[in-house]
Amino acid sequence: MLTSKKVIKAINEQIGYEFSASMQYYAIAAHFAAEALPQLSAHFFQQAEEEKEHALRFIKYVVDAGGCVVIPAIDAPQSKFKNPEQAVKLSFDQEVKVTHQINALVELARSENDYITINVLQWFLTEQLEEVSSMDNLLKIVQRAGDNLLQADEYLARVGVRTMAAPKGE
Ligand SMILES: [Fe+2]
Ligand SMILES: [Fe+2]
Repeated sequence: MLTSKKVIKAINEQIGYEFSASMQYYAIAAHFAAEALPQLSAHFFQQAEEEKEHALRFIKYVVDAGGCVVIPAIDAPQSKFKNPEQAVKLSFDQEVKVTHQINALVELARSENDYITINVLQWFLTEQLEEVSSMDNLLKIVQRAGDNLLQADEYLARVGVRTMAAPKGE
């Protein structure tokens, strides 16, 4: 096996966190669909798919590294929200939490001199920067729209969720 049992165990836990994030985003997407906010809903359905892809990426890594994939039980996601802002804030907090989880995985891999795992985790760190930043952006859009969420939905249709254009050469 290319990595330690300790690292594989921690990655299996992370697979659970990624599936859990995916379930949470499906619940939020369904909530926005029910509220007749199609762009917000579509955005969260897409995020849910991305979290599933993250879980699959980790599953593939465990298989490639010769470990045993053990998918943990997933808690039910939150399905009811006081208002849309609360759902987006929950998503932002979730992305920050996942970033800390990935950081902890890097720390563990470092302590084991496990450079292959560190290399795989680099992709996830870059992804977290993008996801925290875009969720922060979405939170600001929803907050600015206030009670007029149709405006937020309309804005998403026109502009989408992005912070700024990448500088030339990036
Ligand atoms: Fe993720
Ligand atoms: Fe994410």
